[in-house]
Amino acid sequence: MASAPYYQHRGISLYHGDCREILPEVQSGSLDFALTDPPYLVSYQGRWDHKRQEILGDSDPTWVGPAFAELWRVLKQNALCLSFYGWPNAEIFLHAWKQTGFRPVSHFALLKTRMGLGYFSRSQHETAYLLAKNHPPKPAPAPSDVLVSAGVGPPLHPNEKPLGAISRLISDYTAVDDCIVDPFAGSGTTLVAARNLGRRAIGIEIEEACCETTAMRLSQQHFEFQKSPPPPEQLSVFDPRRDQQPTTRPPKA
Ligand SMILES: C[S@@+](CC[C@H](N)C(=O)[O-])C[C@H]1O[C@@H](n2cnc3c(N)ncnc32)[C@H](O)[C@@H]1O
Repeated sequence: MASAPYYQHRGISLYHGDCREILPEVQSGSLDFALTDPPYLVSYQGRWDHKRQEILGDSDPTWVGPAFAELWRVLKQNALCLSFYGWPNAEIFLHAWKQTGFRPVSHFALLKTRMGLGYFSRSQHETAYLLAKNHPPKPAPAPSDVLVSAGVGPPLHPNEKPLGAISRLISDYTAVDDCIVDPFAGSGTTLVAARNLGRRAIGIEIEEACCETTAMRLSQQHFEFQKSPPPPEQLSVFDPRRDQQPTTRPPKA
């Protein structure tokens, strides 16, 4: 790679810059798995330094096609890419993925313990597609498409993903020493999970403050504490056994 890494240690490399410029430096067909959480295209204003800055790329969809075309190129011939996406703009992501050649092979829900205040509903989940480049081998046994999140501690990034859920995806879809790429690395959750699980990884992040956070997380000698997910009954999600039972009203007086 021509660019100098912002951080590099024991198979984990982080590059500071625009993934559309850094990914072209990666050798074609060299990486095993992509796991990414790109901007959702919802003009989300995070609360960094109380400035309420918008996440870069969150209002401009022009990066979607070029970034995923590069991801396709750098993945091995038969490989998987898991990408979170913003549901209000699902058609933009699906169009770009299919144009590139990616084939949706599964869809994941990440359940969160905390709910937003909501408008038409209170949001308690995020979604991701599992996309195939050609014909990757299937994991055996096939893992659940529901990820239960234990939440994150004091957030390091306004869109930080829970380390436990990202670790589960990496352990289900990759092997030790595989190389994972995350071109929208944020606070580096994918890189930390990869490091903890003995995988190699390449991360790219356009915001220098996020690169600093990631480098700090990766430099810590001790692994981050991963909270266990709550038991499913503690998640207030629809429970068919409970919610479909006929209700008995008290008799009218
Ligand atoms: C949704 S956040 C990722 C959060 C991450 N999953 C975590 O756990 O911290 C998306 C990140 O992509 C970065 N980004 C946006 N456009 C980019 C680009 N063209 N190249 C590299 N990074 C970009 C943003 O700065 C933001 O930090």
